[in-house]
Amino acid sequence: MDYDQFADLYDHQYDLYRDDLHFYAGLGERAGGPVLEIGAGTGRVTAFLARRGVDITGLEPSGRMIERGRERAAKDTLRVTFAQGDVRTFQHEQKYALAIAPFNALMHLYTPNEQLQALENIHAHLHTGAPFAFDLYVPRFGKMSTLRHEGETFHAPDGRRTDVFLVQRHDRVRQHITTEYHVDTTAPDGTLTRRHYTLTQRYYTRYEVEWLLRFAGFESPRVTGSFQGGPLERGSDVMVFQTRAL
Ligand SMILES: C[S@@+](CC[C@H](N)C(=O)[O-])C[C@H]1O[C@@H](n2cnc3c(N)ncnc32)[C@H](O)[C@@H]1O
Repeated sequence: MDYDQFADLYDHQYDLYRDDLHFYAGLGERAGGPVLEIGAGTGRVTAFLARRGVDITGLEPSGRMIERGRERAAKDTLRVTFAQGDVRTFQHEQKYALAIAPFNALMHLYTPNEQLQALENIHAHLHTGAPFAFDLYVPRFGKMSTLRHEGETFHAPDGRRTDVFLVQRHDRVRQHITTEYHVDTTAPDGTLTRRHYTLTQRYYTRYEVEWLLRFAGFESPRVTGSFQGGPLERGSDVMVFQTRAL
């Protein structure tokens, strides 16, 4: 999945999302060594941890997302290392004291082979006993195949207004959700620019993740339904997994 095309839109959409930050920062502060973030994107979580003194490397395949992440770190004079690479195949010389994959980063692994390859590679980069934590949204979807506006309107300082419309399609057999974004930007003089992006995510069920982790050499995970440690239950929006490399 190539996020280059999303880099401009991404921060507008998710910069204010903060639910997960203290959870990952707490883990980073307790890790007592270098931390690897998988799918670091534009450094939303990476920068938050670096600001707390965590020695963090953000692994990210998209050059444009990394560019954004570096700009963010430079603006706040933070020390962050970004490494361009794919979770399935990256090879770093060092091992890490903690790995994290915040905000659905593992949803871009589409087949069991890709998932296992990724988890085994993460395992190979962790010290024995080192924790691995990540979150995935609970698969529960709105109205499919219908063009919607979910309140995403952004106003730029130069007067441009951006409206995000989306339509989602569900492939139950593959466990894929494909979102087509239609992004309209209207300039103050009324000129309208229309862009289209497509994003496919592979959603997971709780127990398939538990089996995948065990198969890849991790201990049976602790699974919660919130970043504060509440149980995973019917109304939960996220599944938060915490495990360790055996
Ligand atoms: C939903 S974004 C999350 C970004 C960031 N973790 C955050 O919380 O804002 C998912 C990220 O995973 C990255 N990604 C997609 N496929 C990947 C892969 N095979 N290996 C590593 N990262 C990947 C994407 O480029 C994207 O930046």
